[in-house]
Amino acid sequence: MKGRNHLSSQSEAKKHQLSYHIVPPKGLLNDPNGLIQYKGVYHVFFQWNQHGTVHQSKSWGHVTSTDLVHWEYHEAALEPNDWYDKDGVYSGSAVTKDDTLYLFYTGNVRGVNDSRESYQCLAVSKDGFHFEKEGPLFEHPKGYTRHVRDPKVWQGENGLWYMILGAQREDLTGDTILYTSEDLLDWTFKGSLLEKKLPLGYMWECPDVLQFKEKDLFVFSPQGLEPEGNKFQNIYQTGYLTGQLTPTGQFVSENEEFVELDRGFEFYAPQSFTDQKNRVISFGWVGVMEPEVEAAVPTIKDGWVHALTIPRELTYQNGVLKQQPVEELAAMRTGTPQKVEAEDSIVELTSLQQEVIINWKEDPKAFSMGIRDNVEISYDQETRTVTVSRINWLTNEREKRAVQLKKELKNMRLFLESSLIELFVNDGEEVFTLRYFAEDKDDQLSFSLADKNEQREISVYELT
Ligand code: FRU
Repeated sequence: MKGRNHLSSQSEAKKHQLSYHIVPPKGLLNDPNGLIQYKGVYHVFFQWNQHGTVHQSKSWGHVTSTDLVHWEYHEAALEPNDWYDKDGVYSGSAVTKDDTLYLFYTGNVRGVNDSRESYQCLAVSKDGFHFEKEGPLFEHPKGYTRHVRDPKVWQGENGLWYMILGAQREDLTGDTILYTSEDLLDWTFKGSLLEKKLPLGYMWECPDVLQFKEKDLFVFSPQGLEPEGNKFQNIYQTGYLTGQLTPTGQFVSENEEFVELDRGFEFYAPQSFTDQKNRVISFGWVGVMEPEVEAAVPTIKDGWVHALTIPRELTYQNGVLKQQPVEELAAMRTGTPQKVEAEDSIVELTSLQQEVIINWKEDPKAFSMGIRDNVEISYDQETRTVTVSRINWLTNEREKRAVQLKKELKNMRLFLESSLIELFVNDGEEVFTLRYFAEDKDDQLSFSLADKNEQREISVYELT
């Protein structure tokens, strides 16, 4: 990190490229789908338009890994080429039974006058690379509009299979519905997943249930929430309710408080899975944006748009959810970290893949960090608020997202790439995910020091 950098010599097409995030080889990527560790290999599928950078013709893109760091790209696993999915192989999930991989997804079909149909479909595979579609599984449920999608399937301890789906009631309010099955083929409709109706938006997408020893979490992405102070500032949000999943598969919420999973500008439709080490791992889509902002993403001229988050391990203990980068990502560090001394306020970047770790001995009075003259991260002790701001690439104006911490600030960990940042605060009690598009010449990190006696340690790792 010493001396002048080589960033300005990067070619135009490369300057926003991401190296350790999963991106589409070309075209548009959205939700993570079908996450599973099958026969020892991690499979990540994703919503993928191979033919352009707009939301159309979704197939399931496919990457695999044995270490959650290096990803191998494969051809699309499922293409929209049957009558029941001709306008999109929409989001869904994966499970295994008797060594067979079962993929559940929503077939999207558009008719005349903007009408739409949705079918909950199955595809199976014996090796994880060749897939056979089995078609729709059941009739559309009564009482719900055609906005029913994104099946998430898991097996209960009692052996029963559960499927939940994002849904819209006929009165145009959001819901999640539940089906159960004994064999993954024959499904029975059980009604709403929630014991009690929750008035939250007009449609709930990508539901998921995370089971921890202490509590269960119902994660979903509701559409139609109004901003409320620092909350719900993005076009759509993702969050969770804590509670308990009953043996019949109903979710009993403990306080009906919907808590956002990520405080950044771009985070949506995450999905979780439990790996063979029994970790709950989640990926999210770094991409939900206002349509005009999305259409202006600078990588579109290079033929691709959006990314998935790095894999995060989720834990829930003593009433606190933490999201932390999986430990395997430490293998991306090259060499020893550069230590930033208190008097150093500027660090020159020689590479655009960095991990920055900041630990404080005591709650700092204030803190601010600048990234490439674009992103600013700050903390104010009085209000215990962490704020992240960036320059919006469409309007050129600075915009911000913020959260009030429950306790004092102890640490920050940043995963930095050329155009994407994931910030983990206090061991992942709060997370901010965002894209940013800086100029090549802006290649510095800057750190402020509010108090000469402040005790902090900053390490900067270069990542491969
Ligand atoms: C969420 C979502 C899902 C749908 C998919 C289509 O981002 O709208 O509800 O299945 O994307 O690509």
